[in-house]
Amino acid sequence: MEYKNILFEIKNKIAFVTINRPDKLNALNSATLNELKDCFTAIKNNNEVNVTIITGAGEKAFVAGADISELNKLSTLGGKIFSEKGQEVFNLIEKLGKPVIAVINGFALGGGCELALACHIRIANEKAKFGQPEVNLGIIPGYGGTQRLTRLINSGRAAEMILTGDMIDASEALRIGLVNRIYPAEELISKAIELAEKISSKGQIAVQMALRAIVSCDDISETEGQNLESSLFAICCGTEDFKEGTSAFLEKRKPNFKNM
Ligand code: COA
Repeated sequence: MEYKNILFEIKNKIAFVTINRPDKLNALNSATLNELKDCFTAIKNNNEVNVTIITGAGEKAFVAGADISELNKLSTLGGKIFSEKGQEVFNLIEKLGKPVIAVINGFALGGGCELALACHIRIANEKAKFGQPEVNLGIIPGYGGTQRLTRLINSGRAAEMILTGDMIDASEALRIGLVNRIYPAEELISKAIELAEKISSKGQIAVQMALRAIVSCDDISETEGQNLESSLFAICCGTEDFKEGTSAFLEKRKPNFKNM
């Protein structure tokens, strides 16, 4: 598929996905969502990708939400389909099986904040702003935001953001755990690459098993989660990477994981 609204490249086992509609603050129209679906399906199936970085083009926005010019035309049934479509794409990202880092370089509003929430790690620059402003439009978050935001930052804070529609700045987002780290704008992408390279240098079966256990937390009970954890742990014990990692430690050398 040829992309019109996103940029996509793979370098050193890191995939870079950039939403590229800067004149519309990277708002997610349905064409962009389709491209994201295609792109993340390709990433899922590509063994040459260990980690993905997703960001927005331009200086101003990560993603300023779903495209309001499309929202404006929705009927009741259309709204259900619209919401489920976004949920499907963001679920694909969350359940990709490989780490996705949201690199939030400006406004992350509505569907943009929800996109960041579907990623596994969020880092931002100092001027990033976050919000779920849907109530200002007479709707609610529809791409998983009511669920993921509530789980991530707790129900009181999520209720305040979703019911007021107010934006919060990067330092507040850091304080409440909506992002992991904040960097000066000019350092953000290099810090993201550093983080992606660090994860990519580990044994990838272990990375993927750990991620699977972490992501499952939202869907299953503690008992089922621990059961899954011990099974995934056992799978790791059968890998070459495990032999290499433990031997390297005992031999006081750096591990040379197969996937590197
Ligand atoms: N959907 C469609 N277009 C959008 C958009 C969105 N979610 N967010 C921004 N844009 C467009 C604007 O319409 C404008 O297009 P134009 O130049 O053709 O008129 C362009 O992006 C630049 O936005 P603008 O509003 O002029 O920038 P600003 O710096 O004055 O304000 C925001 C920035 C983010 C505060 C403002 O754009 C905004 O509130 N956007 C909507 C956020 C939102 O409600 N998102 C949730 C949707 S569910």
